Amino acid sequence: MVPELSNSSVCMKDPQRVQQIMQSIRKAGSNTLQVISDFDMTLTRFSHNGKRCPTCHNILDNSKAISTECREKLDTLLKTYYPIEIDTSLSVEEKLPLMVEWWTKAHDLLVEQRIRKDQLAEAVRESDAMLREGYPLFFDHLHEHSIPLLIFSAGIGDILEEVIRQAGVFHSNVNVFSNYMDFDESGVLRAFKGELIHIYNKREGALLNTGHFQELRTRPNVLLLGDSLGDLNMADGVQDMENILKIGFLNDKVEERKQAYLDSYDIVLIKDETLEVPNAIVLYLTGNK
Ligand code: TMP
Ligand code: MG
Repeated sequence: MVPELSNSSVCMKDPQRVQQIMQSIRKAGSNTLQVISDFDMTLTRFSHNGKRCPTCHNILDNSKAISTECREKLDTLLKTYYPIEIDTSLSVEEKLPLMVEWWTKAHDLLVEQRIRKDQLAEAVRESDAMLREGYPLFFDHLHEHSIPLLIFSAGIGDILEEVIRQAGVFHSNVNVFSNYMDFDESGVLRAFKGELIHIYNKREGALLNTGHFQELRTRPNVLLLGDSLGDLNMADGVQDMENILKIGFLNDKVEERKQAYLDSYDIVLIKDETLEVPNAIVLYLTGNK
């Protein structure tokens, strides 16, 4: 059906089930489909030429908008909390308060820096941020078929919008749920807006945005893309869901996390830096393949 599902990076616990879900969605038609995707390390690359690629936060952390002292503090936070994020010996309940602590401390440090809104575009331009290979087809095809794409990110909304704007793919079918910066009248960062979205509260984030899902109630079929187990809750606000196909990128700590990913994602992509498989699936689901 989709030859790319035989790629060496693809793992599936139940390939037959994947086939059934894909057939049901294709049969229902592309006007019943919505796509929900995480951003950092899902739409963006995890690594390139052996070097880690930045998250939204890292784009800012590594930019001129941040002092050296602050950069060191943010780096210490990353070295402390990222290992906890991917630790398989801790439960979500154990990690949750620590993740809130990470986001809170990082955002407090960013606010202290009096970052100006006009510094963000340059920070993105000068960063090593990279969308995964195949991103133009992914964004353009969904746009051409008027399929809504929700980017649901615990990163920074202003930064991720800038990444996709500079890449020329911030099309009209894209909506973003994320942490947005609040600037004062002179354009200086003073806080983050609304409820904090971190890696393990995407369910709460989804339920706060019932209006969005209400508008999309005629699209009960969902393609979900993520790289963390917390991303599985991104579709919790979808109304009257009929089918969901979940694709998970497993970028790091592969052996330790593989079973958990296979148990919760329908398709697991192991150390795959491209959108080749999601693209092939999108083409199939929309009857273009
Ligand atoms: P995502 O939901 O779009 O993937 O964004 C969350 C990622 O951001 C998560 O993998 C951790 C990362 N992160 C940083 O890199 N630096 C930070 O300061 C914080 C708070 C999060
Ligand atoms: Mg992510």
